[in-house]
Amino acid sequence: MNSVKDKALSLIENLTNRASKLTKNQKIAVGAVSAYFLYKFIRSTFRSVKSLNGQIVFITGAANGIGKQVAILMAREGAKVAVADIDKNKADEVVNELLAEKLQAIAIHCDVTSIESVKRAATTVRNHLGDPTILINNAGIISGKPITDIPIANVERTFKVNVISHFYTIQEFLPSMLAKNEGHIVTIASLAGLAGISRQTDYSASKHAAVGLDESLRNELRSMGSNVKTTCINPYYIDTGMFKGVRTLVPLLKEGYVSKRIVQAIKNEEKVVILPKLLSITYMFRAFLSVENFDWVMELTGANRSMETFTGRT
Ligand SMILES: NC(=O)c1ccc[n+]([C@@H]2O[C@H](COP(=O)([O-])OP(=O)(O)OC[C@H]3O[C@@H](n4cnc5c(N)ncnc54)[C@H](O)[C@@H]3O)[C@@H](O)[C@H]2O)c1
Repeated sequence: MNSVKDKALSLIENLTNRASKLTKNQKIAVGAVSAYFLYKFIRSTFRSVKSLNGQIVFITGAANGIGKQVAILMAREGAKVAVADIDKNKADEVVNELLAEKLQAIAIHCDVTSIESVKRAATTVRNHLGDPTILINNAGIISGKPITDIPIANVERTFKVNVISHFYTIQEFLPSMLAKNEGHIVTIASLAGLAGISRQTDYSASKHAAVGLDESLRNELRSMGSNVKTTCINPYYIDTGMFKGVRTLVPLLKEGYVSKRIVQAIKNEEKVVILPKLLSITYMFRAFLSVENFDWVMELTGANRSMETFTGRT
């Protein structure tokens, strides 16, 4: 016990000695970095965490992948979950799993590209669970082909699923959130919404739009003085199978990790999340590198060629 105390005292003495030898500018730099980390520590320790118990969650594309995992995690924390998907059979399977755990969930057929289908789904969720308090726009698709090979109908479908549908669901569910002055709109976007790479033209363009929609909505809500929250999630490739075949330097993110992080971000009411956090460096590169050098980084890291081996769900 004494040796631990001695070691701690000698460490403090050592650090104090070193600190006394720093120049004025070095002291300012160390002070600024320490203050930043202290601020982050205090914020994360004392931030209030939203309870999911009793929340009514409407999540699109929740029959598979991260949507399914997020639905399960949120239901396990006491949320009533509407599992909305174009694949009703798979949505039923997810809901049966949840009901077997005595959790509250319903499966709803919803093709997010159709405003009528979204409206029908909205009526179903209201009748069975009530007005959603958390909307998660998660459904997403990709073509994964060179631009001249993508049938225009597929480009239009990608935009409808990945971003136009967000207008349908937000216009459907935001009014009741505004009336109660509480609620949460979550956008599952992508790192492709912050940087464009080869063979993701339709996907990247639609995800950039989703990122823009989230940012604009966030500021609109702020200027209205509304308490409704927004969260935008921008993950790198995940091992769900959506990007099957991609060749990458950085390993694919695990579905379980991303899902847990999404739920944590909702509870913490984080505004923008980049996964993994290290890739937030994309913002820095964008700000400080020339376009040529930014493109060169994408080439050098292999990111720009990652889609060459893409097969997707076959
Ligand atoms: N997988 C990745 O590498 C990755 C990376 C970054 C972002 N994302 C985004 O995360 C989200 C989920 O991705 P995932 O990997 O879990 O995908 P996934 O393919 O596993 O699941 C997508 C779900 O969306 C549903 N869906 C497709 N079209 C629909 C429609 N018209 N209406 C309703 N539902 C529809 C599918 O049936 C499926 O259940 C997507 O928005 C995706 O763009 C994924």
